[in-house]
Amino acid sequence: MSPRPERPWWKDAVVYQIYPRSFLDSDGDGVGDLPGITAKLDYLKALGVDVVWLSPHFDSPNADNGYDIRDYRKVMEQFGTMADFDALLAGMTARGLRLIIDLVVNHSSDEHAWFVESRKGRDNPYRDYYIWRDPGPDGGLPNNYGAFFGGPAWTFDQGSGQYYLHYFAAKQPDLNWENPKVREEVHDLMRFWLDKGVSGFRMDVIPFISKQPGLPDLTLEQRRAPQFVYAAGPKLHDHLREMRREVLDHYDTLTVGEAFGVTPDGARDLMDSRRGELNLVINFDIVRMDIDGWRKTTWTLPRLKALYTQLDQAAGPFGWNTQFLSNHDNPRSVSHFGDDDPAWVERSAKVINTLILTQRGTPFLYQGEELGMTNYPFQTLDDFDDLEVSGRWRDVQHRVSEEEYLANARAMGRDNSRTPMQWTNGPNGDFTTGQPWLAVNPNAEAINAQDQTARPDSVLAHTRALIAWRRGSVDLREGDYRDIDPDHEQVFAYRRGALLVLLNFGRETVRYAVPAEHPISGLAFETAEVERQTVTLAGWTSAILAVG
Ligand code: NOJ
Repeated sequence: MSPRPERPWWKDAVVYQIYPRSFLDSDGDGVGDLPGITAKLDYLKALGVDVVWLSPHFDSPNADNGYDIRDYRKVMEQFGTMADFDALLAGMTARGLRLIIDLVVNHSSDEHAWFVESRKGRDNPYRDYYIWRDPGPDGGLPNNYGAFFGGPAWTFDQGSGQYYLHYFAAKQPDLNWENPKVREEVHDLMRFWLDKGVSGFRMDVIPFISKQPGLPDLTLEQRRAPQFVYAAGPKLHDHLREMRREVLDHYDTLTVGEAFGVTPDGARDLMDSRRGELNLVINFDIVRMDIDGWRKTTWTLPRLKALYTQLDQAAGPFGWNTQFLSNHDNPRSVSHFGDDDPAWVERSAKVINTLILTQRGTPFLYQGEELGMTNYPFQTLDDFDDLEVSGRWRDVQHRVSEEEYLANARAMGRDNSRTPMQWTNGPNGDFTTGQPWLAVNPNAEAINAQDQTARPDSVLAHTRALIAWRRGSVDLREGDYRDIDPDHEQVFAYRRGALLVLLNFGRETVRYAVPAEHPISGLAFETAEVERQTVTLAGWTSAILAVG
């Protein structure tokens, strides 16, 4: 697929993320599984994606749905067996699809054998695999770090009289990357999966692996967004380069680092091809542009556009961006950035997917996004399964009303994107024959893959067609990016090489006057009314034009 040998394959790829719990349940236990994915490989092939990123499929007690790993070399029982994994990979390889898996090594589960040993006592050979500290001078916490799922980032272990560090839940103790044995263990488990034939890793909160020397207290300001301190440890780049030298350079891989706490400039260093660290990073700037702590604020189209330009410039000539608007940690893109009113959801999802697929960088689609799946109508806090919702609620309930907290969780909660895939309009969207682990969105009746596969005007059809068209378009894959109208409040208008992309982000029809310096020579993809330099964009529609 790469036109030039020096251009890595992943720059031209489209990635599709699968959250295995919610994709397809093949055995009726209410939880998605690996055979369920294997059964849908033809669907993915027809969609036209090249790479699947599989969220964690490893043995886990599921405190955080697999982001708490008990055994890095074992498949989660609910998901199947290693033979099922091998069959999935073989099925993908046979169809020319690649697989990247999740590498979750900032922390493990507290049920991992290393931690079980580590907590046995100060003399245990595994003690130093994790980060243990004596109580602070007043007998309390070693420092004032907070955990992302609520409460302090330290938990006291009665048996050994020390605290251990966990940036996330207490069941997710942080590994000690200062210990060379830990790094070797990680390198080893990476080789284990690469030797099986996976094509790389999405690396969970990878900037957090290097801790601040001495773990000093955070300032009040830093406590509002501790990720920027956690991501700025001094050894991060060394650890990544070592990983590259020891492991990745010996395989043909794609590495995507989740860059939580990293600014666009910091991200440039992580993905600079001359530095030998990561290939791509997952930025938070766009998906979290309207978030203040746990609260959702508002966003505007000019602000969104400014971020796209900033990120494009930050990538520079030696970096390459990921393009995504949703994943398992964020609400559904059509609900957050588009208009999920039933009358507008299809058009608006097409605009959102057009944005993802026409920006400069490697697009990442999240399962269900190709259908325009929406947020779930949660009614009470009890409807949420995610530990983040309950953990943060404990932190703020003394000062925030339940009504306000619920309104935010409905808009931002991670379970919005974790509800099961909507395959048909049958019971539970045919995700499972049993009781789904998380309720299926009642709009499966209207939004489902079966219906959209049959309909040429569906979101699915549009997404497929655009992926196919993108493959043949050097402009979309390689062309420079330039926002031609950064201040327009309803139309997003940008050049990609010799193409002009116009996206109408609202319900009102816009007659958009394209400046003369971009002479329109015709429509390149989709239909729209074009009269000389004026393009009529109906509410929530897009157009891709050839310009001279
Ligand atoms: C980021 C993952 O994407 C998220 O789902 C998880 O809860 C945290 N890292 C902790 O692993």
